[in-house]
Amino acid sequence: MKRFSLLAALLALWALPVRADEGMWLPALVSQRIEDMQAKGFRLSAEDIYSVNQASLKDAVVLFGSGCTGELVSSEGLLFTNHHCGYGYIQKHSSVEHDYLKDGFWARTRADELPNPGLTVRFLERMEDVTAAVLKGYKEKMTEEQRQALVKKNADRIKAQAVKEGNGLKASVEALYYGNQYFLFVFREYRDVRLVGAPPSSIGKFGGETDNWMWPRHTGDFSIFRIYAGKDNLPADYSESNVPYRPKKSLRISRAGVKEGDFTFVYGCPGSTQEYVHSEAVKYIQDISDPEKIALRTTRLNIMKKYMDQSQAVRIQYSSKYAGVANAWKKWQGEEKGLRKNHVVPVKQAYEKRFEEWAQGTRYEGIIGRLTNLYAARNPLYRAYEYYRESVLTIERLQMAGNPRFNRKDYYQPIDEEMFVAMMTAFDQNVEDVYKPPYFLEKRAQYGTMEAWRDAVFADENEARELSAALNEHFNSTIAPPVAELGKSITLLYRDYMQGQMEFEPQKAFYPDANLTLRVAYGKVAGYRPVDAVWYNPVSTLRGIIEKDNPEIFDYNIPQTLRDIYAQGGHEDQPVCFLATNHTTGGNSGSPVLNADGNLVGINFDRVWEGTMSDLVYDPEICRNISLDVRYILFIIKEIGHAAYLLDEMTFVD
Ligand code: ARG
Ligand code: ASP
Repeated sequence: MKRFSLLAALLALWALPVRADEGMWLPALVSQRIEDMQAKGFRLSAEDIYSVNQASLKDAVVLFGSGCTGELVSSEGLLFTNHHCGYGYIQKHSSVEHDYLKDGFWARTRADELPNPGLTVRFLERMEDVTAAVLKGYKEKMTEEQRQALVKKNADRIKAQAVKEGNGLKASVEALYYGNQYFLFVFREYRDVRLVGAPPSSIGKFGGETDNWMWPRHTGDFSIFRIYAGKDNLPADYSESNVPYRPKKSLRISRAGVKEGDFTFVYGCPGSTQEYVHSEAVKYIQDISDPEKIALRTTRLNIMKKYMDQSQAVRIQYSSKYAGVANAWKKWQGEEKGLRKNHVVPVKQAYEKRFEEWAQGTRYEGIIGRLTNLYAARNPLYRAYEYYRESVLTIERLQMAGNPRFNRKDYYQPIDEEMFVAMMTAFDQNVEDVYKPPYFLEKRAQYGTMEAWRDAVFADENEARELSAALNEHFNSTIAPPVAELGKSITLLYRDYMQGQMEFEPQKAFYPDANLTLRVAYGKVAGYRPVDAVWYNPVSTLRGIIEKDNPEIFDYNIPQTLRDIYAQGGHEDQPVCFLATNHTTGGNSGSPVLNADGNLVGINFDRVWEGTMSDLVYDPEICRNISLDVRYILFIIKEIGHAAYLLDEMTFVD
């Protein structure tokens, strides 16, 4: 118990400094950061950000779908998120006659707004530290299994209690700091969410993969939805009689814009970071995981591209898959580079040395070495695990064999045949035989070449099914379980190591790693120096879109109407995107970017490539989030969508 209260004291030390602008803070505890925020320009209070007693900004932010953020911008349930977050839904409503991805979509009346079965949004009702209740009954001598069972039992009870009222309430209990602290999150989940508007992809995805993760950026990455509710304003299944949801709070929009140095904060749901890991974890990512996954994806992208360039039909079939593969592929390249450039491994090693010296004679003694050993045991297995997932398990023919629900509409066999040979060869050459199923070794000998094997698999459904089953079975029974076991042991050690780090550096404020729970990140609008002798300004304009415009290049071919509008003059300085130092990650897409007065100035959608190592270490010099300027959204709604009636619902402060 003594340990818990010491920990509680350490966790309450959030007011202490961190490196400039680093951190993703829990809204309920933001009062501990508020002085720092105000010193940097924020003009509101902690209660304005998060309150359970009155409407606050948190009531205007939602988890959109399963991995994005959205925000309410009208008292009638209107919501902004990214185009890439709405993409799948826009695609589902699209057909050859109505290609909303290509042409955009604008509901002219409420009745034209399109329902999206399965899409939900979650509002946070409240969050609360439940560490004591979750660990009730815990004894020091318990095994980890016993502790986990206890945590689960207590958490289930706490969650059941929290959603008693029903009415769409959902609860989750999340471990923070590797289980040193537990928080209860109570949400209200709405399940009638309709598509209201989306720009054409030539605006919403302008720059495509070429510009993804890059600055200067000019992507109009937004889409618009509306939340519907029952007449009682509570969640309801889709029904024609549902009415627009009336939020407790919707964001007011500022058209005053931003400039270098302005305070901004991002309120959203960052998915996953690992800021406190051991140097061995970083070394593995930098030297093995990232390079190998990048190489495999380069191969896959080249194959897809070859066929996509040859046929418009194939381009349509594979563009979403291509984007998915390319996104992490590009991120990992930036991450690997950033980790090296920042000397993260040696810096962590030096830190660990100091930690070890300090830990002599404490209960943390030896923990660094134990983690090193665990990583040594895990890495070869984990490498095989990742290799399976990035190579053979991506072969569509094999996915299809085990799954009647596989989407055959977006399938082009010549791509997959080439993938088969490339992925099977890479797997065979780079994964040790001990990690392969015996079936694979037998068949390899039998066929002699991957080409012969390919011909058999694509000619014979049974051959595909057998190989698919052998790989999946081996992966699930022999590779994944020990990886999970070692992962548990590592997490267990991190629970102590995390606590040790807090005691070792009592002057530092430790924010919990991202886990898709609602967070506040704050910083300022700022450019950066990507490489020697280059300075990037933080604001991009329509002028840059016209500079990039090229009807010959798919990613840069803008709508003719936009060219015409520009040619009329007066729009050169129309702002499009801006950079800031807010610490964000995947999941923050669609998050509102707010100014010092809590008014909406942008929507977060990306980070700069050179700073993507921020999931492991944040460098204030180079880590930047990329936001869409809200004024560009308004411009597109009006000028391209001819949907100015949507602006009538919004509240503008200036
Ligand atoms: N890089 C951004 C994020 O990680 C945007 C991804 C979607 N856009 C794309 N071109 N693939 O999600
Ligand atoms: N683009 C990411 C997202 O979709 C955001 C990021 O990784 O910065 O959440």
